[in-house]
Order: sequence, then structure tokens, then C-alpha cells
Amino acid sequence: HRAISINASKCFPVDLPQDAITNTNCCPPLPSPYKFKDFKDYAPSNSPLRVRKPFHLIDEELIAKFEKGIALMKALPKDDPRSFYQQSKIHCAYCNGAYHQQYPFENLKIDIHRSWLFFPFHRMYLYFFERILGNLIGDLNFAIPFWSWDSIEGMQIPKHFTRLNSSLYHKLRDKNHMPPHVVDLNYKLKENYVSPNKQISFNLATMYRQMVLASTKELFMGSPLRLGDESHPGIGSVESAPHNTMHSWVGASETPNREDMGTFYTAARDPLFYPHHSNLDRMWVMWKNLGEGRKDYSDDLDWLESTFFFYDENANLVRVKIRDSIDTIKLGYVYEDVNMPWLNFKP
Ligand code: C2O
Repeated sequence: HRAISINASKCFPVDLPQDAITNTNCCPPLPSPYKFKDFKDYAPSNSPLRVRKPFHLIDEELIAKFEKGIALMKALPKDDPRSFYQQSKIHCAYCNGAYHQQYPFENLKIDIHRSWLFFPFHRMYLYFFERILGNLIGDLNFAIPFWSWDSIEGMQIPKHFTRLNSSLYHKLRDKNHMPPHVVDLNYKLKENYVSPNKQISFNLATMYRQMVLASTKELFMGSPLRLGDESHPGIGSVESAPHNTMHSWVGASETPNREDMGTFYTAARDPLFYPHHSNLDRMWVMWKNLGEGRKDYSDDLDWLESTFFFYDENANLVRVKIRDSIDTIKLGYVYEDVNMPWLNFKP
């Protein structure tokens, strides 16, 4: 087989973009002595399913929990792998080349973007983030809300992220894109000077194209990345837009790489990263439900056996295989049904 299996104990300095505004070592702390658990050995949880909901359908009580959880993660010591700081570095490590492929391809650096690793990596990253957050607030039913930029009510930055004294607030964002400014799901780093209604219909057309027209796994999920392959074999439709486009649209316009959201080494420092990815993960679920024949790579052992490492709520290092990520019910969560105004929006 040619599945990529990461060795968490071998973490290298990352490649940063030109003019990076901070110099980061993205390697998370390692347990000493080095050891890890396998995700498949965790007892399945028998608690009720967690339901992830969009910001426009949740009450202030849930927002308060989310804020408190993020505040507690930010307050953990910086070397605690559950801290907000270390969690954000995990993303950097998997994007900017901290891990390399295994023998005999140790010279090849791994980036989980622009390939079939994109959806499963981010699903499991969020899964552990959610567990850590739920554990810190003492509510194991906590579910990360999603930023539903594909529904009309969700086409702006949720207002909860812009309150100055909230743990969800983040300074490095584009000041011209604060709510109620309507998002541009196909953002090309230039403003679209159109009316909000016009922008909404552009957005729905983008969603239709990326979700409905991308009918094969190669188009939707991205191309296979196997042992010995160079990173970035081919990007999936939704990863390219709205994923990449929303990252750039949120990041600050005055920093060299639209830090923080607009570039991978810093993106996960903005709390909005997690609801953004909650919605992307929801896209994977919805895409599979759009029709017969929309299968992911579940028949390909190289995909199923690819591995990643995360930390659980007790700061244990855990090895996850993509096969563990395929079913959200097994992971204990579902998405609230929200209507899909783009579903029949043929451009
Ligand atoms: Cu790993 Cu939204 O990026």
C-alpha cells in the first residue's frame, strides 16, 4: 500500500511565506516518553448526538458557552497541547511542512491541503478541538456552531465575533468586511461593488457550481495523495471556493499574507476558523447526500489508512486514521438541517 503515515515524533521547522509577520515553530509539544493511543481503541461514546447549529439559529446561552470555552483554551499554559495556542499550531504544522512522508520518501513534505486529505484532516482536527472545549466547560454535549455562509442569513461574519470584549473577537481581520457586509464566496482579492442582493445571487450560483456540479469524488474532494507523491495533486471544488476564498476574505488586508485567516500558518489563530471549518465539514456531509454515486474514497485503502495525530481532552496524543473519520454519527455529532437555497440555483 501507499498510504501516508505521519510520524508525530519527527517534526521539522515549517516553511513560512515571504514576509511572515511572526516567526513560528509549529511543532506541538511531545509526550515524554513518546507514546500515543490509537483512536480505534477509544470506547464508543453512548452520550446523545451533539448537534452542530448555525449562528442564526442559536441562542446567547450557547454563544456564551462557546466564548467561555475559547477563553479557557486561551488561558491554558502555552505549552499545554490543549491550549488555543497549541491547537492553532497543529494546523500550521500540517500545512506548512512540519511533517514529512515516511521511508523512503522522507524528503517529501506533507501539506494536507489541495488533496483528498483536506476533508478528513479538518474533520478530525475539529473533532478533538470540540472535545477539548466541551471538557473545559464541563459540557460534553457542546457542539461547535457552524458559520453557514451558504445560507442567506449566514452570508456575513456572525456578529458575535466582532464584539470587542469577546474571546471570539480577533483583531487581524479585514475592516471593510465587518457585518453586515455580505460575503463574496468567490472572492478574488478585489472588492465586488454590487448590491447585497446581487452578491447573494452570485454566492448562491457559486455554491451550486461547487456543490452540485462537482459530482465526482475527484472534483469535490480533491485528488489522491499517496506515499511518494508530491503535495497538492489537485484541489477539490469547495476547498478552492468558498474555503480558500473565505479565508482570504476574512484576513486583514494590510498584512502581507492577509494574516491571520488568509494564510495557513496563522489561520487557526482566529476563533472564526473553527466555525468556518464546521461549515466545510457540513459540506462534505451534504455533498454525499446530494445523490447516488456521490461516494468519497472509501474504497481506497491508501486513503483509509492515511494517519494524523491530535491531542484529546486529557492531553493524550492520539493517532487517527482516515477510516475513523468517515461517519459523523460514529464520531457522535450531526448537523442541524438548514435549508440550502443554492440547491436549485442554476446559474
Ligand atoms: Cu487547513 Cu481552512 O484550512
